[in-house]
Amino acid sequence: MKVSPSLLSADFGNLDRDVEMLNRSSADMIHLDVMDGVFVPNISFGFPVIEAVAKKAKKPLDVHLMIVNPQNYISQVRDCGAAIMNVHQEACVHLHRTVEAIRKEGMKAAVTLNPATPVCLLEDIIADLDMVLLMSVNPGFGGQKFIGNTVAKIRRLRDLIDRCGSHAEIEVDGGVNAETAPLLAEAGADILVAGSYVFNAEDPLGAISCLKAV
Ligand code: DX5
Ligand code: ZN
Repeated sequence: MKVSPSLLSADFGNLDRDVEMLNRSSADMIHLDVMDGVFVPNISFGFPVIEAVAKKAKKPLDVHLMIVNPQNYISQVRDCGAAIMNVHQEACVHLHRTVEAIRKEGMKAAVTLNPATPVCLLEDIIADLDMVLLMSVNPGFGGQKFIGNTVAKIRRLRDLIDRCGSHAEIEVDGGVNAETAPLLAEAGADILVAGSYVFNAEDPLGAISCLKAV
């Protein structure tokens, strides 16, 4: 299993230390949650913080934009060092154009679905995506309870990907821990995002290894 620890639950007063820890860990990438207080009812951090993380990080940056009009920031996201740009389906009126523009800037294009957004809405774009991020909580906060129907949703997405011959990977975000991870793996997830499970653990390196081993 690939693992993308979410810095949202890191200690922002010791960000260098936490990024160093991730560099030493078995994590495959680093997940960064940008929130604007409009698309989601919370505000996190923006480009200067991502840039600072990029300077220290030795893993690809997986940037999750929980913002309105993400299409206005594509070159800025690339310039601050992102390898993967996740935009919400619900935030993009012209999703195809946005996905094309992300790939043109040399990043992997990922589309995120809120818990209430059905997988079938991706049918006509799945072949152009590098990744689909399924939210297993309502976006905006770390430490929320996992929404159980995500497991069936992963299966539906896996079917769609196979049927359309897409190479998209399935990433799951929210409430991932040692109990929920095996269910997600079994259903067909490729990448797990985990914030509080990793950073609230006494042994964050061990928590990452535990998810990797699923
Ligand atoms: C929530 C964010 C998540 C968050 C997950 O809106 O997208 O990436 O960090 O936190 P946990 O793993 O604590 O549910
Ligand atoms: Zn996220």
